[in-house]
Amino acid sequence: LKFVCLSNDGIDEHMVWLVGLKNIFARQLPNMPKEYIVRLVMDRSHKSVMVIRRNHVVGGITYRPYVSQRFGEIAFCAITADEQVKGYGTRLMNHLKQHARDVDGLTHFLTYADNNAVGYFIKQGFTKEIYLEKDRWHGYIKDYDGGILMECKIDPKLPYTD
Ligand code: ACO
Repeated sequence: LKFVCLSNDGIDEHMVWLVGLKNIFARQLPNMPKEYIVRLVMDRSHKSVMVIRRNHVVGGITYRPYVSQRFGEIAFCAITADEQVKGYGTRLMNHLKQHARDVDGLTHFLTYADNNAVGYFIKQGFTKEIYLEKDRWHGYIKDYDGGILMECKIDPKLPYTD
């Protein structure tokens, strides 16, 4: 089992994984238009952290780092149906936080969570209160009425992965 973080870089193996992740999102997030999912997953300003097992994608998180503002927006998050509730979602989020802090230099995440995923995000340290100053994120992330805006502060020192 491994965790990778990459974006559309044209490398064959990475493209196969990104297409696999796009298919998981399309199935697990049926309210999202498929073209929108493809566009963001393949967009070079987005990155995806993926769980890879036996060279197959089990799930992942696609996000956009706003490096100048030091926050990231999580666009999509899903684990394939038969692998949910086994802890992969938690480990994935921990790898995301570690990468975002140590590689991108981010301090916070924002996401529009689906109603039924709010419990998962709360367990990952997200809150419905937004503490991040509005001028750091306003105008960067789009208003979206299909979810609840949630925030997570990344601990500056905590080791999130082993
Ligand atoms: N509601 C409440 N709690 C949840 C949910 C949920 N939907 N999903 C998982 N949990 C809990 C688990 O019970 C577990 O609790 P515990 O630590 O007390 O045992 C904890 O959250 C972590 O569980 P994991 O096994 O690590 O989570 P999993 O691997 O199942 O991944 C995920 C969670 C990504 C939400 C997965 O269930 C999934 O893909 N769901 C369908 C797609 C989805 O809803 N994605 C999020 C949409 S919002 C967005 O993409 C921005």
